[in-house]
Amino acid sequence: MSEFLLTRTLPEDATGAALRADVLTGLTRTPKTLPPKWFYDAHGSELFERITELPEYYPTRAEREILLARGPDIAAATGARTLVELGSGSSDKTRHLLDALTGLRTYVPVDVSGSALERAGRALAAERPALSVHALVADFTDGLALPGTPGPRLVAFLGGTIGNLLPAERAAFLASLRALMSPGDALLLGTDLVKDPSVLVPAYDDAAGVTAAFNRNVLNVVNRELGADFDPGAFRHVALWDAEREWIEMRLRARTAMTVKVRALDLTVEFAAGEEVRTEVSAKFREEGVRGELAAAGLDLVHWWTDREERFALSLSTVR
Ligand SMILES: C[S@@+](CC[C@H](N)C(=O)[O-])C[C@H]1O[C@@H](n2cnc3c(N)ncnc32)[C@H](O)[C@@H]1O
Repeated sequence: MSEFLLTRTLPEDATGAALRADVLTGLTRTPKTLPPKWFYDAHGSELFERITELPEYYPTRAEREILLARGPDIAAATGARTLVELGSGSSDKTRHLLDALTGLRTYVPVDVSGSALERAGRALAAERPALSVHALVADFTDGLALPGTPGPRLVAFLGGTIGNLLPAERAAFLASLRALMSPGDALLLGTDLVKDPSVLVPAYDDAAGVTAAFNRNVLNVVNRELGADFDPGAFRHVALWDAEREWIEMRLRARTAMTVKVRALDLTVEFAAGEEVRTEVSAKFREEGVRGELAAAGLDLVHWWTDREERFALSLSTVR
């Protein structure tokens, strides 16, 4: 009998409190920032799904190619009975993993987007009678606690989402993830790889403007949740390659000088013409860097798989 359970690990008002704190900190500092997790209300999650289908957005197709080719290797190397997936979104590519992991009993998708978890989790539980689905609405960077499910566990973190964390945040995140894992558990990590900016930049600035709408959606979220009066159309979508730090930055650039009010914070924010808010960093990786960051957290990289064009990598690491 399949089972679907959805748990909010955060109190109902925690999300609002976290958004208030992030907006207050981010919009009163120089340069201004907003963290990428706030893109993903129901509309933002839908926009992200459209991004994954764009011709310019190669990461989803490249990662799918690796999952299809390496699924049996992942199953053999892990023997996983529980799959925990961080930032699971639509769980679409996950289906290839679920097909390959023949000993799997329980799937634990974790996401800040309750709407994405509801839709994906219910569909999977209905499709797969032998699988228990225990979805968690949680922030994977903030005190994540996992339900007691059968081991060994495979923790999957796909889509290159780890690249949205800054280097110090990544180190803290990997260390806290390692602390949640037991001997015999493994981590399957998707990382987008360093490549020519002529391929990277269009993936974050598509011709149809879907990524621009996704980027501006964070302003809709702040308007709705915190009573702000941002005019999203007054901001230009910007995607830049930072060659030194090897990351893409998405920003929103004020087209003119303006004053924005955030009622719930009693905050007035001034923008100069051309001033930018950084909304996302998307770091790109090299094998040695990933190996080193995992090792620093107490995880040993045991497999490194790429797509045929070497655009994206999946690594498998085990608890030291
Ligand atoms: C780039 S999308 C990737 C989705 C999917 N894993 C894929 O590979 O297509 C990032 C996902 O992580 C979720 N997310 C972002 N920050 C999060 C956080 N701090 N805690 C939990 N989920 C988060 C978003 O809601 C979204 O579903």
